Amino acid sequence: MDIVSNIEIERVKESKLPTVDFDNIVFGKQFSDHMFVADYKNGEWQNLAIKPYAPIQLSPACAALHYGQAIFEGMKAYKNEQGEIFLFRPLDNAKRINVSAKRLCMPEIPEGLFMDALKQLIELDSDWVPVGEQSSLYIRPYMFASEELLGVRPAEEYKFLIFTAPVNSYYTGDIHVKIESHYTRAAEGGVGFAKAAGNYAAALYPAKLAQDKGYKQLIWTDANTHEFIEESGTMNIMFYIGDTVITPNLDLKTTLAGVTRDSVLTLIREMGIKVEERRVSVKEVIEAGENGTLKDAFGTGTAATIAQVASITHDNGRIDLPPLGERTLSNAIGKQLTDIKKGRVADAHNWIYKI
Ligand SMILES: Cc1ncc(COP(=O)(O)O)c(C=O)c1O
Repeated sequence: MDIVSNIEIERVKESKLPTVDFDNIVFGKQFSDHMFVADYKNGEWQNLAIKPYAPIQLSPACAALHYGQAIFEGMKAYKNEQGEIFLFRPLDNAKRINVSAKRLCMPEIPEGLFMDALKQLIELDSDWVPVGEQSSLYIRPYMFASEELLGVRPAEEYKFLIFTAPVNSYYTGDIHVKIESHYTRAAEGGVGFAKAAGNYAAALYPAKLAQDKGYKQLIWTDANTHEFIEESGTMNIMFYIGDTVITPNLDLKTTLAGVTRDSVLTLIREMGIKVEERRVSVKEVIEAGENGTLKDAFGTGTAATIAQVASITHDNGRIDLPPLGERTLSNAIGKQLTDIKKGRVADAHNWIYKI
């Protein structure tokens, strides 16, 4: 894609790179040299700039801080041994941020602008993309209402930013999860399908209660009955039962349409394994766990790609999943996706965007 946006670039005087210990990065605490910033004012995106990563100034009355008009995306850049840099399905993130924007009454970001900003920022900070097998450059595009405003109405001014952070693997240790049967992440008619900041704030308290009891994540269930599974933490979730992979469908708009979810389902179907996207009941998963037909359960998402679940606790007991060595499906899919993301195998689906 050609660059069409007029982005002013101000480089750092001195890079932070020599100070970074890439082997010991704490997830999400180390940021690259530059960030992209744009302002939405008078009905158009303006002041497009890439500048040194630094605090930004906001009014105390900044609307997002009160009324929560804030959305984001999460994606990654990967580097192979030859030093080539790849993004994975970035256009899907460009489209999804606009789905979120529409629901939160925020202006759309033209896909060309999103892609130009991303490309130029990653190019400039290309030395920040780590090469390690479990490593990548996490990319955080986000938009929030920046208007100085008291009064509940859609703001008229916004900021769109992108910054990046080199990261290693997201999850360490076994993933024990608990099915949530009281709290709710999203309800029908709400904003569950949007990557809205408030969704994550609302999930913190129930997740903390679970973490205090030793669980890594919750499995969210539907708001009406808590009988149907939705997603797990910040991942979509899949169960391999008998000869079929089942995963919650997206029709109710209470879950995020994960880019990884879509990719994994495509690969599973290509392996000739049956996939069902439908409502998934807590009851059938527990039954499959008890009668030995639950072969695999895993979360899918940008942060972890595939996160294999070790155990699932529910109101009346606990299911232990087979040892990781026996998870042939999730092991194979995880490897295949990582190989595609790192540009090691042919990209049959046109998912890779080379920087
Ligand atoms: C709530 C939620 N569900 C699912 C996902 C997985 O989406 P993706 O595969 O696009 O990262 C994410 C992460 O972005 C998320 O925050």
